[in-house]
Amino acid sequence: MSVEREIEKLKDEIRRHDRLYYVLGTPEISDYEYDKLYKRLVELEETYPELITPDSPTQRVGGEPVEGFAAVTHDPLMLSLDNTYNEAEVREFDGRLRRTLDADSIEYACEPKIDGVAVALVYEDGVLVQGSTRGDGAKGDDITANLRTVRDLPLKLANGPGGRIEVRGEVYMTRGGLEELNRRAEADGRPLFANPRNATAGSLKLLDPREVAKRPLRAWLYYLLTDTITIRTQMEALGYMEKWGLPVNPLGSLCWDIESVFEYHGRLVAERPTLPYNIDGIVVKVNDLATHERLGSTAKSPRWAIAYKFAAEQATTRVNDILWSVGRQGHITPIADLEPVELSGTVVKRAGLYNADNVEETDIRPGDYAIIEKGGEIIPKVVSVLYDRRKKDLPPAEIPTKCPSCGAKLERVDGQIGLFCRNPECPAQVIAGLAHYGYRRAMDVEGLGDKVARQMYYELGVRDVGDLYSLTVGQLAELEGWADKSAENFIAALEDSKSRRLGNLIYALGAPDVGLETARLLADEYRSLDGLKDASADELAAIHGIGEIVARSIVDYFARPDVRKTIEKLRTAGVKLEEEPPEKTVAKPLAGLTFVITGTLPGMSRTEAQDRVRALGGKATTSVSRKTDYVIAGENPGAKLEKARAVGIKVLGPEEFEKLLAGAGER
Ligand code: IVH
Repeated sequence: MSVEREIEKLKDEIRRHDRLYYVLGTPEISDYEYDKLYKRLVELEETYPELITPDSPTQRVGGEPVEGFAAVTHDPLMLSLDNTYNEAEVREFDGRLRRTLDADSIEYACEPKIDGVAVALVYEDGVLVQGSTRGDGAKGDDITANLRTVRDLPLKLANGPGGRIEVRGEVYMTRGGLEELNRRAEADGRPLFANPRNATAGSLKLLDPREVAKRPLRAWLYYLLTDTITIRTQMEALGYMEKWGLPVNPLGSLCWDIESVFEYHGRLVAERPTLPYNIDGIVVKVNDLATHERLGSTAKSPRWAIAYKFAAEQATTRVNDILWSVGRQGHITPIADLEPVELSGTVVKRAGLYNADNVEETDIRPGDYAIIEKGGEIIPKVVSVLYDRRKKDLPPAEIPTKCPSCGAKLERVDGQIGLFCRNPECPAQVIAGLAHYGYRRAMDVEGLGDKVARQMYYELGVRDVGDLYSLTVGQLAELEGWADKSAENFIAALEDSKSRRLGNLIYALGAPDVGLETARLLADEYRSLDGLKDASADELAAIHGIGEIVARSIVDYFARPDVRKTIEKLRTAGVKLEEEPPEKTVAKPLAGLTFVITGTLPGMSRTEAQDRVRALGGKATTSVSRKTDYVIAGENPGAKLEKARAVGIKVLGPEEFEKLLAGAGER
């Protein structure tokens, strides 16, 4: 067998097993056997790199990090769906359509509504050529390199049609995938994702496809656009997509009329907890595609579909206690400590109560029964208190007057809800601040998470981020759960953090109101922490994107003696506190002008003259045309001079040319 043949065969085989494994969940060979095929392909491609094609399964992660994403225009628009939580409105939808279409009943294609992130994919002659986000529906980001890493999505269709097709659907993560991802994040001291959808959206926005490849992204597609084949119904479209190897959710089903839609809804409500991924309702679509055309869309959503969403899952349980935690900025957050209860597949022990004002207003008390609900977040929330079930004489919750961490008197802050601890030395705040410093978007110190920050504070006397840099391997290795290796790694991670970008450092310091975006603006404007720390509020407020309140809060922050002390510690440790200005854009005073040089110039070769023009942004060509702006004539000029004169192009002698270059800023 020729090498080409073998490579083609391996690629087809691997694609088939990818589909069996990732899409259908029915693998036919062991991981070991799969790896063998894959390794053989890699080996052949390494030996014959000229035979590597972009649709090879080895080429999922091909891209280098990018600066940003290009825009992709969606035609037709990527619309969203009208949605409802109640049966009556679904009946109204059906009634409206039956009247408009003058039909007794309507056939619907029903599908689970996947709680993910919408994407569009373009295949040309069966090869994936473009993938994009929904964006605002009219324009999204080109995330082709990122989507290529999603194993569910074939780089090449199996028996796909020729020409161009577009498919749309949802990229998502399973709950298990998210747990695994969060376990890794926790171990690295990175912030956790609140839910699979956020994790998916965050992953697709990464600029480095190699990082995206590490995220457990999956996909279900449900929408097909094609000119080459005639498709009559949505169910038929799903069938085609499936046949071509695209991931189509198996729960899609044809419903003869609106009653069977409700049966379908009931089935999915029951099935929902057993699915490994989140769905938040069903999508009811008119099955007949010609009817889609007839009905059309409003500005926001098609008239032929509706999302019938599930009510959020709720549970009733007892509030054992109300705990108060202290955030990085001193915000005091109440948390309900619950009698453990199962809610959408997990055991819940805590629920958020937002803030002290909410506790007062709802009068929730330890010992009360409450209804909790899981929205998209990890921590469920208390949605209502069952006052009827309250035992007589249950004492009200005690709203703390002192900080549970440091004992300082709690205060209210103008314009903000709830209570605050205003002691900058409060252990809870310092610990949260240390962990924040280590976050990836901040100084990216691997290993510096909440738990480690706590150890640093209580066992090594670390009181601010500056102190981190005087820690030694010896000190760390003695801590519980640490060893020489982990201590060395941690010191190396700190060393590495010294050269982060100024914007990350500013964000890492954790000034109130300064998120990463604002921090980057400040870094661009000041280029050094010293410049920033002495800036006035007026100066700051003049920066586009920074308002007066934030400006004031930045000035107050940098005026604090403890903050100044921290900055000095960072300086002494060798943390980079400034950033070089971006490379100056060289002035291009001759941009847009075209020169032709003819004859001999004194003391300068023609190439040199051309280079000097180009260095100033001008264009140097060899023939005179209507596009020529100047002809530079030296000794013994040729016919070019005559031509220039004939058409009225400006002619300069050698001296005038020198003057022009000097005037254009050449040094
Ligand atoms: S059809 C033109 N089908 O829900 C209408 N959408 O809230 C195209 N979604 O933007 C949407 N599962 O991102 C459709 N089976 C499904 C879906 C689905 C999830 C998302 C989609 C849409 C959003 C609307």
